[in-house]
Amino acid sequence: MLKKKKIAKARQLWSNRIVWCTLIVSMFCCANNLCFAQSASSITGLRCEYKVNPIGIDIDKPRLSWKIQSSERGVVQSAYQIRVAGNAESLATEKKLLWDSGKVVSEQSIHVVYAGPELKSRQRVYWQVRIWDNCGLKSEWSEAAFWEMGLLNVEDWQAQWIEPNLKEDRTISNPSPIVRKEFLLRKNIISARVYVTSLGLYQMELNGQIVGDQLFTPGWTSYHHRLQYQTYDITALLKKGANCVGITLGDGWYRGFLGWENARNFYGDTLAILAQIECTYDDGTILITTTDQTWKASTGPILKSDIYNGEVYDARLEKKGWTEPSFNDSNWANVTIKKHSKDILTASAGVPVKRIEYIKPIAILKTQNGQTILDMGQNMVGWLRFSVQGHAGTHIKLRYAEVLDANGNLYTENLRFAKQTDEYILNGQGQEVFEPHFTFHGFRYVAVEGWLSELTLENFTGVVIHSDITPTGQFECSDPMVNQLQHNIQWSQKGNFLDVPTDCPQRDERLGWTGDVQIFAPAACFNADVAAFYTKWLADLAADQQSNGAVPNVIPNILSMRDSATAGWADAAVVVPWTVYLYYDDTRILQKQYESMKNWVDYMANQAGRDCLWGNDVTFGDWLAYSTNDSDYPGATTDKDLVCQAYFARSTDLLQRTAKVLGKTDDAKKYAGLLVKIKKAFWAEFVTANGRVANNTQTAYSLAIAFELLPHVLRENAAKRLDDDVKKFNHITTGFLGTPLICHVLSDYGYSESAYMLLNRKEYPSWLYPITKGATTIWERWDGIKAGGQFQDKGMNSFNHYAYGAIGDWLYGVVAGITIDEKQPGYKHIIIQPHLGGGLTYAKAGLESMYGHIESNWQIKDKTLTLKIEIPPNTTATVKLPLVVLTDVTEGGKPLSKANGIVDMLQQEDAVVIQIGSGQYVFKSKYVSNTVRW
Ligand code: BGC
Repeated sequence: MLKKKKIAKARQLWSNRIVWCTLIVSMFCCANNLCFAQSASSITGLRCEYKVNPIGIDIDKPRLSWKIQSSERGVVQSAYQIRVAGNAESLATEKKLLWDSGKVVSEQSIHVVYAGPELKSRQRVYWQVRIWDNCGLKSEWSEAAFWEMGLLNVEDWQAQWIEPNLKEDRTISNPSPIVRKEFLLRKNIISARVYVTSLGLYQMELNGQIVGDQLFTPGWTSYHHRLQYQTYDITALLKKGANCVGITLGDGWYRGFLGWENARNFYGDTLAILAQIECTYDDGTILITTTDQTWKASTGPILKSDIYNGEVYDARLEKKGWTEPSFNDSNWANVTIKKHSKDILTASAGVPVKRIEYIKPIAILKTQNGQTILDMGQNMVGWLRFSVQGHAGTHIKLRYAEVLDANGNLYTENLRFAKQTDEYILNGQGQEVFEPHFTFHGFRYVAVEGWLSELTLENFTGVVIHSDITPTGQFECSDPMVNQLQHNIQWSQKGNFLDVPTDCPQRDERLGWTGDVQIFAPAACFNADVAAFYTKWLADLAADQQSNGAVPNVIPNILSMRDSATAGWADAAVVVPWTVYLYYDDTRILQKQYESMKNWVDYMANQAGRDCLWGNDVTFGDWLAYSTNDSDYPGATTDKDLVCQAYFARSTDLLQRTAKVLGKTDDAKKYAGLLVKIKKAFWAEFVTANGRVANNTQTAYSLAIAFELLPHVLRENAAKRLDDDVKKFNHITTGFLGTPLICHVLSDYGYSESAYMLLNRKEYPSWLYPITKGATTIWERWDGIKAGGQFQDKGMNSFNHYAYGAIGDWLYGVVAGITIDEKQPGYKHIIIQPHLGGGLTYAKAGLESMYGHIESNWQIKDKTLTLKIEIPPNTTATVKLPLVVLTDVTEGGKPLSKANGIVDMLQQEDAVVIQIGSGQYVFKSKYVSNTVRW
């Protein structure tokens, strides 16, 4: 009885969020003035535009961020001072500063906009910062950091586009062209840069050494509108005297196979390169060497290289020393100057793809049909590097696949047309090491053919590649299967963050499906620092958006526009910038994307017309929902019109909030008005007076409640109906769009027990079911492998698809309880409110935010709840301890008191709410139950 009462009270409390928010604000208004620190802080983690010491950027007013380190509690920055100079010495001597911000009274420690003199192309500046805290204590100046500008004007490019003069049949994969040029440095150099891009992919070498560690350059963008160039510091690779630059080109996304219709040459059929090497001599003079008609071209050992199909490499065709001076290229072909725009060039804004980790295969399997298969123990993305010794002409073939079939043989049917095969032909000259150049594979198993000697695990290394996004989040709890789920989410993120956010990394798709991106974005922001990654992708979204506002289903777009403007997919235009804003307090992304966001909402509004009811024939609905016999195709279970209208509202809501953040008052009013009409149309069309949402599916309720589409009076009732439905099925029935929301809605409305039931379930359909089948990444479908071992439809059955991994957002945000406060985004104010339950005895999440480390770590032991928390300097937090009594709560072993970082505390119904400043805290309390939640 007591239990029931408590739950009822808790529900009531949750339903009244306004009261809750007001309370936080009023309790907190004075928190930042309280000073506890005894010693000054120090400053670390200087970043410019999310990057450490970036070179070659083209943002004229870069934003600067830093982290404050302190062992004290309650530290808040009260002022900062930044100084910027042309070199590190000037900073130290304070002479010839380019910009001194002076002491600025402000708490802002992230995204402070550089406000010094305009910066020129190639200019490098050094900067440092110091701060004053809320006790008036001043930090030392930070270490100096720098950033360097790229080529800001099209006139800076003296280089010309060149294409190799080679005979090719452009309807198929051709040998990769190589181009070279020697140049003389008459004097010693003090610094050198190369600015380079290509049509197709490039790998550059200087004097026999590969330039940089980036892969798949120049990256994939909306090539017709935006083409990235990279800047490398090549000072150490050059020498006085003769030097040589050599570049290998690959088809890549530019002209390789793309999409599932066996089509290629999407952006063009000829590869080309644009490179400008700028060397500064020690006397200050500069030598510029560029691509021009004097370069020579040939082909090398790469006979074929394609993203989907793999690489064929004949080591007998290697041209020894071709990227070193004195190589004889007299029989090489010439190059042709190509007319191609330089106006579309843009500095690399994303996160470069690199080799990130290396894993060893765990077993060699011999199959019934005689195959030799390596098991990597992990579904991964990249390739196998191997070393081998043998006769010239020995032909080794590696075929990559994600799973084995019921007989233990390699299963490749779900790859569709993608061959995922690397072939290597030995040159017979001692130990040979191979890894491919312009392809990647999604795989756990590799069939090895043609290996003549005894195969050993030592010969092989799995090279894991992805965009070098810094990991920021960890989640762990007392259930090993849930931990495996988190592992799988992180590996699906790694595998699908390869320059663009993709749906899958293995079949003939690997495209930036917008729906997948928007539903996974919150989980992605927790797992890694993805702000720069999404910033780049969003620029492509805006570039590929149609003039009528329609957003293609994949970005960069390579599909017909006939299939664009799909509810829940196109909304990425609004949801993703908003998510980046929330997680990183990035208002610039909102400014940059604002027109695009608005155009998408206007598109829907125009289509909807006067009755504000939007529908679209070509729409995926709740894609891949648990299917019932009467569904006409995956996603049909929830009315597609309802999905359209719900997302119409969602995007309009986020747009009006964005307009408010940006101070666009008229727009804010206009779209708030539109939102009211959209909601009314939603009620009229889909909601009964009793809170039944047509057609009574889990997704329908999840969308309606999470997007706040229902009148207040109906929300409780609708949430109850959702809970009833979950209990009726005893499992999840949602697809791509309902899945990210359902557990949030359940726990928000007091039904955490049901949310935990969904999490803990191990039978199909559930998150843990694939784990019972050995999954090491997230599957595209709830039943990629059926209970009896059969595979789902080979036409669409990826075993590495992050979409359902969106549950990660609930794991750290609700189970561990680290939540953003929308009023102070970027974790400036943090809400820590773990939801205990599901039989878990502990859960902990750690997050490296823009401000520093956040941690929430709870444990129930011996009827005691322990909550360990870390809050970074310059942030504050509201901590909510569930089901405890104020007088039972201690911190650091002492009764709660307003001292040393603790600003306030109160009993609120059956929870204790505590306001704290930065620092580490250990709260303990008697705890009666771990099954009842609030
Ligand atoms: C992709 C998805 C995508 C969907 C859209 C699939 O082929 O792999 O993840 O969102 O198509 O319908």
